[in-house]
Amino acid sequence: MVTTAQAKAKYDQLVDRYEDIFFYVADVGKDLVAFANPAPGVRVLDVGAGRGAVARAALAKGCAVTAIDASPLMMRRLAEEHPEIAASEGDLYRTGFADGSFDLVTAGFVMQVLDDPLAALTEFRRVLVRGGQVALSLERQSVGRLAWFQDLSLEFFAPEGSSAPSSEQAGPMTHDQLDALLVEAGFEDLVRESVEMPTPLADPSALWEWLMPRGLAEMVPALPPERRAEFHRRFLEDARRMHEDGGIVLEFAATLHRAYYR
Ligand SMILES: C[S@@+](CC[C@H](N)C(=O)[O-])C[C@H]1O[C@@H](n2cnc3c(N)ncnc32)[C@H](O)[C@@H]1O
Repeated sequence: MVTTAQAKAKYDQLVDRYEDIFFYVADVGKDLVAFANPAPGVRVLDVGAGRGAVARAALAKGCAVTAIDASPLMMRRLAEEHPEIAASEGDLYRTGFADGSFDLVTAGFVMQVLDDPLAALTEFRRVLVRGGQVALSLERQSVGRLAWFQDLSLEFFAPEGSSAPSSEQAGPMTHDQLDALLVEAGFEDLVRESVEMPTPLADPSALWEWLMPRGLAEMVPALPPERRAEFHRRFLEDARRMHEDGGIVLEFAATLHRAYYR
């Protein structure tokens, strides 16, 4: 989970590679906009817009799109690529827009990275008109066939005596938790939908690269050099076993949530 300042540093670094690494976000951005189904001309605020997966999809539907993100580099790139989108650096906890400025607020894969999601939803409600809609996507990755990776990570990185979370709790935020927060923030008429995204990776090295921006890049360098080498060796061994036993396919899924400010 990140603060606004941490998001700025982290996502600035990812500006060139973001949608290559997270190759599913463009499709889920389109899914999220289709799910919200805005009419042409609807005023959309896309928060935590990143490279614009959701904002671009809303633009393609003829919406008037404003995008904000903590990362100035992401926003500069989006503004260059899509001058029709009003993209600027901004803090989603304090957007600075007047009450009731938008008909739809979208946030693609944002809620799970926030340290105070309820405060964020309260701000989204504030900038919506009465009858306005919020549409969010939430990443869900069950441990499934990656249980070996969880065990290996616990062995190398977890404090003594900690145990593995169940696969149901593996994500940082569940869809039920997000729905409860939506209600607490004053939203009504909640609807949600699942999107399945089986994610095949070519080989053990591709899995290593895929996991790097998801925590490994911070965790591995913290190990002493010989433990680091040992972790990498064991990782490749276990991943090779997975590869030979049906392939490296991540059981990846997202939920789409929408709700209204009545
Ligand atoms: C996982 S990315 C999702 C990007 C994009 N919505 C997508 O679907 O590809 C999360 C984004 O939220 C942004 N973010 C995180 N905290 C933020 C905050 N407090 N204010 C504005 N943006 C924030 C990050 O900079 C990052 O671009």
